Amino acid sequence: MCGIVGYAGRRDAAPVLLGGLQKLEYRGYDSAGVAVFEGGSLHIVRKKGRVKELAEALSLKGNVGVGHTRWATHGAPSERNAHPHTYGKFTLVHNGIIENALALKEECIARGEKFSSDTDTEVIAHLISWFYNGDFAVAVRAAAKRLAGSYALAVLCADFPDAIVCVRMKSPLIVGKGADGAYVASDLPAIAGEGVEAYALEDGDIAILRAEELSLYDGDLRPVKREKMQYSCREDAPELCGFRHFMKKEMAEIPVALRRAPLSAEGGNDGLAEALCRAEFIEIVACGTAYHAGLCAKHAFEGLCRVPTEVTVASEYRYRDPIVPRRTLCIAVSQSGETADTLAAAQLARERGAYLAAVTNVAYSSLTRMADAVLFTQAGREIAVAATKSFNAQLTVLYGLAARRAAALGIAAPPLEGLSVAAEGALAAAEGVRSWTPHFLSGKSVFFLGRGADYCTALEGSLKLKEITYLPSEGYPAGELKHGTLALIEKNTPVVAVVTQAALAEKTMNAVHEVYARGAKVFLVTSFAELARREEVTAAVVLPPCPEEYSPAVAVIPLQALAYYVAVARGNDPDKPRNLAKSVTVE
Ligand code: F6R
Repeated sequence: MCGIVGYAGRRDAAPVLLGGLQKLEYRGYDSAGVAVFEGGSLHIVRKKGRVKELAEALSLKGNVGVGHTRWATHGAPSERNAHPHTYGKFTLVHNGIIENALALKEECIARGEKFSSDTDTEVIAHLISWFYNGDFAVAVRAAAKRLAGSYALAVLCADFPDAIVCVRMKSPLIVGKGADGAYVASDLPAIAGEGVEAYALEDGDIAILRAEELSLYDGDLRPVKREKMQYSCREDAPELCGFRHFMKKEMAEIPVALRRAPLSAEGGNDGLAEALCRAEFIEIVACGTAYHAGLCAKHAFEGLCRVPTEVTVASEYRYRDPIVPRRTLCIAVSQSGETADTLAAAQLARERGAYLAAVTNVAYSSLTRMADAVLFTQAGREIAVAATKSFNAQLTVLYGLAARRAAALGIAAPPLEGLSVAAEGALAAAEGVRSWTPHFLSGKSVFFLGRGADYCTALEGSLKLKEITYLPSEGYPAGELKHGTLALIEKNTPVVAVVTQAALAEKTMNAVHEVYARGAKVFLVTSFAELARREEVTAAVVLPPCPEEYSPAVAVIPLQALAYYVAVARGNDPDKPRNLAKSVTVE
């Protein structure tokens, strides 16, 4: 998390840095700061809150500087803890977590050094100072060798006001060279608009940025070449295009995303085709919404083609000494392709013999570089922290894989092509949930129920609601309700039931009846119009026709819309929920 930028060139640095930081705000937005060399002396502006609070920095006149937008890990969000951090001649911005910060800090304190923040980052400036003997890059390299954890750093030194030294380990960092200078950022969109030739640094790489040149070195300071990234200018900041929020815009883009995604599912390479057809076991690793996509896909892999499939939260998988049976296909699902836990879990599965396929939305991500085969979800850039269109697209790609495996077994799976039209219908029907919002404003807990694949949809609906409305909410298997959770149902408790699986419909409706009998208000998302007319149902969205096997990709749409409308009605910014960030690049 956190976003860092840097610029060394011939233009004023401050507007470049602020523009870049705005494009990185999806990574964190609790405080921000910039440092710019102005005539040889360094000026730092740091603020609690969003990047727009840094407007005063625009008056700085200097051509070299670094900037940061923060998602707090060590130390509360405050001006004191905002980056850049300085010690001695060194000022730096950092994305990542230094796991041995405490031990290193004790060393520094024993030397008599004083600290001015509660962050893990500040210790890096102390270390660089300690190792400095006149060679800037050598000092950064020596300090980096002492760090455990993850870091992407952009460092300034008072003795070299024309240069920025960068280094990365397990946190993404992109450098670029344009006509007017050299750039660095945590993510490509922050610099793509500058028309640069961009390169993704690899672990241990060191980059030195100056107006005239961008020099890349490996961890031993030997010159290296890195492959030029291919990108289009569309990687630049997307526009709201008349929508009030990115979340609403990105939901409107779901049908297009679903039209593109099946093409990915057909793609990949021969290795993937073979691994898919030979797989005796599928392990899906992911976090959050992507994990829910994996849960939905398990139903398709097992239901359509009978391949045993496990889905594990990546942060659990990586520390659990997992068993990887022979012929395991591991599918790592990640919108960003940068989620630290997903990367670690995928790496572990691969080391233990699994064939690693990545399902991701970001072509140049760390996950794409690590995987044996990559399937791009092609949903287009997603800005809102709450994932929407990427989830629908992940599902379509995963369903496509299941359909491919089924076809290899001679089983005809339903076609995916109609999903996009069904999504259009669901989006239109989802407008109806706007009228449900008054029932969700009381602050009471909300429950989402379903069985089978509908339970997975319920989990995703619940996550969406809680993360942007801050209402306590739980996704629950409908049949499990009476084993405890029913005790929480009282008069007017909102309960959302998802019913798209014909064989399970009446079973879920039993649970609906039980909560209704205890005073709950029931809201239904269903493929069966007749269920919407039952007396237990306060309001319903009836979904357009869609193969049952794939229904979560469509049924989730009204739940995404519900979260959006309730968040807006509660006065929240649905694009930037509190305490969260789009890309979780730390453990
Ligand atoms: C929720 C959400 C998160 C992400 C999770 C994984 O709306 O967006 O739960 O799904 O942080 O992120 P990726 O898919 O980038 O690995």
